[in-house]
Amino acid sequence: MTVHIGAKPGEIAETVLMPGDPLRAEWAAQTFLKDPVCVNRVRGMLGYTGTWKGRRVTIQGSGMGMPSLSIYANELLRDYGAKTLIRIGSCGAMQERIAIRDVIIAMTASTLSTPSRGIFRELNYAPCADYALLEAAVAAARTRDVGVHVGGIYSSDVFYDERPDLNEEMIRHGILGVEMEAAELYILAARHGARALAVLTVSDHLLTQEALPSDQRERSFGDMVEIALEAAFA
Ligand code: ADE
Repeated sequence: MTVHIGAKPGEIAETVLMPGDPLRAEWAAQTFLKDPVCVNRVRGMLGYTGTWKGRRVTIQGSGMGMPSLSIYANELLRDYGAKTLIRIGSCGAMQERIAIRDVIIAMTASTLSTPSRGIFRELNYAPCADYALLEAAVAAARTRDVGVHVGGIYSSDVFYDERPDLNEEMIRHGILGVEMEAAELYILAARHGARALAVLTVSDHLLTQEALPSDQRERSFGDMVEIALEAAFA
């Protein structure tokens, strides 16, 4: 057991999918894993371990934002020996060609800051995805009836952003979408010699103001979970 994860040694798989929402972790485990067992309930940040096509997988909520994700990712990597962490979550689209429900696979994650800022100081470290995972996720996504975009995203510290000028610069420089966790996940995986990727479903659009109705979120989320699972074991 760690400070924030109640799982016993051996109860966490080497491959971990990390949605922000703990209830999505529960839903994904019950929908896609065989014999899912709840291995964490601390602070309601649910985690489940089961199997997918015979391979052990844990689906552990990360909470929202990089400080929360950093707690869970650090403990998974350092104390439970996780080797592959894949964020599955939602994002806001920042380019016109991207539609609601499309999938964005994040090659890099730009930031203003991350919880690792104190280590890097004046260095502008470039957080990037594990290439093999990225390639496998793109291949898995291309076999599905879903729009796929691969490129840079923005990991923001705020959902309610008061800097429209900054978003304009991101859009001008080709950033595909905004979310709040991937950059620190990539940094921590690099620090611990592990693999990381973020596979994201577009839930809202910053240019058109469209948003995915809540009754359609589950179906879109399902594509993303299967893309992540196929990539992890490719
Ligand atoms: N996650 C989903 N949509 C988002 C947005 N617009 N900003 C930040 N994170 C998000």
